[in-house]
Amino acid sequence: MPLAHRLTALAAALCCAAAANAQGSAPIKIGLMLPATGTYAGLGAAIENGFRLYVQEQGGKLAGREIQYFKVDDESEPAKATDNVNKLIKRDNVDVLVGTVHSGVALAMAKAAKDNNTLLIVPNAGAGDITGPMCAPNIVRSSFTNWQPAYAMGLIAGQKGVKRAITITHSYAAGSESTKGFAEGLEKGGGKVIKDLTLPFPGVEFQALLTEIAAQKPDAAYAFFAGAAAVKFVRDYAAAGLNKTIPLYGPGFLTDGTLEAQGAAAQGMLTALHYADNLDTPRNQAFRKAYALAYKSNADVYAVQGYDAAQILNAGLMAAKGDLAKRDVITAAMRKVTVDSPRGKFTLSAAGNPVQDIYLREVKGLNNEYRSVAAKALADPARGCKM
Ligand code: PHB
Repeated sequence: MPLAHRLTALAAALCCAAAANAQGSAPIKIGLMLPATGTYAGLGAAIENGFRLYVQEQGGKLAGREIQYFKVDDESEPAKATDNVNKLIKRDNVDVLVGTVHSGVALAMAKAAKDNNTLLIVPNAGAGDITGPMCAPNIVRSSFTNWQPAYAMGLIAGQKGVKRAITITHSYAAGSESTKGFAEGLEKGGGKVIKDLTLPFPGVEFQALLTEIAAQKPDAAYAFFAGAAAVKFVRDYAAAGLNKTIPLYGPGFLTDGTLEAQGAAAQGMLTALHYADNLDTPRNQAFRKAYALAYKSNADVYAVQGYDAAQILNAGLMAAKGDLAKRDVITAAMRKVTVDSPRGKFTLSAAGNPVQDIYLREVKGLNNEYRSVAAKALADPARGCKM
């Protein structure tokens, strides 16, 4: 090789080794936007715990890069969501956003992620629009759409012969999508929702609504509540004696992360979700053991979703060898991954939402125990997603 060529080759090697080093030493900035206060605070904590657990299991690094966390408490408050997400995008300059629990807040996050072309992994909020009309290459979800567990629960209720059902929820995107999904599943089995009851988020004044359920005497009630509101609703439902005559169904959020506080009121309840505590797989058992050891509490669906958000990010970063500039490689690999989740293996749809089994579970003691597969490899229809 002529000397000039050799020098050019040497310079190129020096350049890129230096760049790789610089890049290798700079941490990846993760913006965690989750609720730390309010009715969904416990859900936010479990998601963060799960995310951090996976990173710890990789030695504290993803694709050889240190991880640096930036945190904002979104308070499950849609009115503050745009300001809050911009703290992470514009002030902290994060590389990746992870959030959030509440659908109304997550919709604002998705808009900001689209406008700024920031990577976003949604570790809970089920708003259909995020992987529907708002779908984008830089947005994926490690959780569910509100339709998925709701529709599966509706199918089960129909199979149980429910003809007349009442729904009850907070009046916001997640509640209305969940109750609609339930009605759709129920109708397949010849049942019908005769009344939808709502109260403003995050209210917990349930008495008048429970009186209405008692008066209507439906075959079953379906409730979408989560976190502290789910604890209170299930207790109030039992205290009113309704659980003796009108079975209470729900997506599994109604009894996930809540069983210690719900106690006897939740025993025997049937719910549908993409996770069950006692799934008898080495993957789930190892995960639950590691989680309990690290956080002195039991893992729940939110912990699983946080853990899997980190797994999806890792798949993207590994494909790009940790180089954030290789955006297309990262987003393509994040979509192509088969996630080895504690819930069971799942893939992502073209719209970026998990295609996953939905389980029927029954509350026994402090566990949501697996009973059967309510819907196999269920994919959200992703209506309106064009990419
Ligand atoms: C939502 O707002 O989409 C939501 C909140 C809490 C849950 C599930 C969904 O447990």
